[in-house]
Amino acid sequence: MSSQPAAASSTVTAPPSGQRRYLMCPPTYFQVCYRINPWMHPDEPVDPARAGAQWRRVYDQLLALGHHIDLVPAEPGLPDMVFAANGGIVIDDRALIPRFRHEQRRPESTHYAAAIAESGVRDVRQAEHVNEGEGDFRLVGECILAGTGPRSDPGAPAEVAEYFGRTTVPLTLVDPRLYHLDTALAVLDAETVAYWPPAFDDASRRQLRDLYPDAIIASEPDATALTLNLISDGTTVIVNSDQTRLARSIAERGYAVISAPTDELLKGGGGAKCCVLEHHRTRPPA
Ligand code: ARG
Repeated sequence: MSSQPAAASSTVTAPPSGQRRYLMCPPTYFQVCYRINPWMHPDEPVDPARAGAQWRRVYDQLLALGHHIDLVPAEPGLPDMVFAANGGIVIDDRALIPRFRHEQRRPESTHYAAAIAESGVRDVRQAEHVNEGEGDFRLVGECILAGTGPRSDPGAPAEVAEYFGRTTVPLTLVDPRLYHLDTALAVLDAETVAYWPPAFDDASRRQLRDLYPDAIIASEPDATALTLNLISDGTTVIVNSDQTRLARSIAERGYAVISAPTDELLKGGGGAKCCVLEHHRTRPPA
């Protein structure tokens, strides 16, 4: 990838090669006051300043890499809004807005819909099926891997396939700790993924083995510490620690690895990847 200066303008017509666009929401109101995944313990305190600093580091690193970030304003009473990955699926001029499984997160949808429309996406549609956005639906090359079970409904992949006109590969998640696809599988580039097989049922494991024979297989300690929840722009990978086996395997494959600890945000059940929603551009805007 050629290195590119930061493009500050949102009026670029053709993206500089390698530049990605992300949506993020600051953790202004982040706290753990309900429990909808096994990581959340409402009795344990959260340090808001620490969560803010960790989020900021991810944000700064993405900007330093030359990527574009649109911000969604945080809303009081919606402590999980920081996990922007769940705010939609956005590819070219289309976005599908999530239908959250848990009522605590349902009001987030309208805020994400507004922010996504404001960022210039023309066709913004509300999902019919329970669908937790890019947390469960990851574009890899031409196809979309679709995690279902704990959150997104088994009917969601077909809806996504139809709306985006892309092959969608349903994968069933079976470990309650790895409840979104982006906690169990990381997309490194258009051909490469890393994942932890026990997070998936047998049929899904076979699918992944067939599709990605060269995948990086994460170890149990790494996977269950949510290290797969990483951000890759295809060249540089932001991980929660560069001291893990997973980080070393990624570096051995030739990616640059930089670390951004996210343990304070992990109290809500998310890491760096959960904090970004990518606006995938597979062709120049119409
Ligand atoms: N507390 C949030 C929830 O349970 C965390 C979401 C993490 N997001 C993700 N993309 N994995 O919904």
